[in-house]
Amino acid sequence: MIITMTALNLSAQTTKTIVAYFSASGVTATAAKELAKEKHAELYSIEPAQKYTAADLDWRNKQSRSSVEMNDPKSRPALKSQKSLADYDVIYLGYPIWWGVAPRIINTFIEQAELDGKTVIPFATSGGSGVEPSVSALKASYPKVKWQKGILMN
Ligand SMILES: Cc1cc2nc3c(=O)[nH]c(=O)nc-3n(C[C@H](O)[C@H](O)[C@H](O)COP(=O)(O)O)c2cc1C
Repeated sequence: MIITMTALNLSAQTTKTIVAYFSASGVTATAAKELAKEKHAELYSIEPAQKYTAADLDWRNKQSRSSVEMNDPKSRPALKSQKSLADYDVIYLGYPIWWGVAPRIINTFIEQAELDGKTVIPFATSGGSGVEPSVSALKASYPKVKWQKGILMN
């Protein structure tokens, strides 16, 4: 019995889970906090070097920052700080759906987070769009990550 409990404690300690998310207007942040609580996971907010203003998020304006970034697949908005997830085993990665996919800052984050070989569970909030097209796009861009089925948290 003692041995069994020790083994269980060890396995609980060795699986490190983190919920990392980007949220421009707070909706994904709320979902991420709930998820972290439920999974007993650490919480990490992916912060842009330059915060998105309401004007930046205006999807009706083709010249707005979000429109310009989303029209350019190579756009990589800068992060406020770098964060490696190399020490984690399971990563929940959250974002709002922008134009059907993940915001480009998620690409910036993935490319510096050392996620190759890691289990990543994407989750998203949206105005109604599904999460799967965003996951397919991430899978195609980062094939070395062990992408799991996405979760829509609307
Ligand atoms: C630039 C931009 C593009 C968006 N594109 C979509 C979209 O394609 N489909 C959709 O359902 N919602 C879209 N939305 C709505 C957001 O996904 C939704 O409001 C989300 O919950 C916002 O999350 P946040 O508060 O964490 O930023 C878009 C919002 C913005 C600002």
